[in-house]
Amino acid sequence: MEIVSEIVHLAPYAGCAFVPTMGALHDGHLSLIREAKKLDVPVVVSIFVNPEQFAPNEDFSTYPRSLEQDAAFAEVAGATVVFAPSVETMYPKTNPTISLPPAATEPKLEDAFRPGHFRGVCLAVARLFDLVKPTAAIFGEKDYQQFLVIKQMVEQQNARWDNLHIIGAPNIRDDDGLAMSSRNVFLSADQRTQALAIHLALKEPNEQKMAEKLDQHGLDVEYAVIRDEATLLEPRKNEPKRALIAVKVGDVRLIDNCSLENSS
Ligand code: PAF
Repeated sequence: MEIVSEIVHLAPYAGCAFVPTMGALHDGHLSLIREAKKLDVPVVVSIFVNPEQFAPNEDFSTYPRSLEQDAAFAEVAGATVVFAPSVETMYPKTNPTISLPPAATEPKLEDAFRPGHFRGVCLAVARLFDLVKPTAAIFGEKDYQQFLVIKQMVEQQNARWDNLHIIGAPNIRDDDGLAMSSRNVFLSADQRTQALAIHLALKEPNEQKMAEKLDQHGLDVEYAVIRDEATLLEPRKNEPKRALIAVKVGDVRLIDNCSLENSS
């Protein structure tokens, strides 16, 4: 699998299907690459551990990095090329700016617990869209708020990315129900068992019961909420809803969500 890091090497792939990642690829990422492959255009996978989206107290320095293995996995899943840019290529100017869409600041979910996170995500993704010039970009719904933020960012700047479709792909779980995440490698066997309460809590009928289930299993709850699926604001009657959870298991922060069928 070819790994390129210079902008000039991206030119042949304009119009591609694009899967942006931070590496440490697992089956969840590979399912995004397979979705991209269905579009019948070249598939570009980016691997960039984006310093701008980590707060100083977060796990940027310990975030798993495995470029060669990732490239091999990406190839098997159907990627055409891996783009692994340097920080200098991604951020040629110091203090880059970006305007944030409502989903990045209004829900008070990830935005409340990780201030500055979506600014960093939007900076990286906007730069990658400008460099890669895809016609479709695929994001996992595991990071549901991120997916909405990016969708809104592209809608707001439709002159800049006029031919770009943002596609959401379903959350992929291990057989035991734990949503796949690059951070799962940090869980001890006991913590992993504890973390199984997350997907069970998503099946509870209301926020109080969700929080109780997480609490019973000793998880440190940041949020366990039911929100409007389109905005992540308070649920609206007869509109689709989504349950979303963020917890800490020891030092490991995990998020998960699912769409709720009952929209009354
Ligand atoms: O979801 C991720 O891996 C990252 O937030 C992304 C979209 C690649 C931006 O750095």
